[in-house]
Amino acid sequence: MDNVIRFGVSIEPELLSKFDKLIDGKGYENRSEAIRDMMRRYLADTWSESDDNMVVGSLTIKYGHHVANITEKLTSLQHDHHSTIHCTTHVHLDSDECLEVLVVSGHAGDVRMLADSIGALKGVSHSRLVMTNPE
Ligand code: NI
Repeated sequence: MDNVIRFGVSIEPELLSKFDKLIDGKGYENRSEAIRDMMRRYLADTWSESDDNMVVGSLTIKYGHHVANITEKLTSLQHDHHSTIHCTTHVHLDSDECLEVLVVSGHAGDVRMLADSIGALKGVSHSRLVMTNPE
């Protein structure tokens, strides 16, 4: 790496030991890469907390398509927010359950509101929104 700054960190041995075990299990080659990843994730999470910041992301949902009118409600909500939703991918998990991934962008507050509306629909058993800084 050409342009890096090295800095020292004071940390309790027990915490460092737990951290090393964790990153070893995740396949990181060294602490530096794991710490850089954590910093990027923290910055992205913090960025996404401000409603006015522009974000890109994905919303993953799982739902039972036999639950009353859920397919119609989901379609209607997605059409109402067509400018926020770029595309969706739908997977039929079995005869009852569906998995859907929506690629989204816009102001963090609007994206979060859409995700909350979808997650609150009866029949949606799992909903997870991931947002990050598009830059
Ligand atoms: Ni399906």
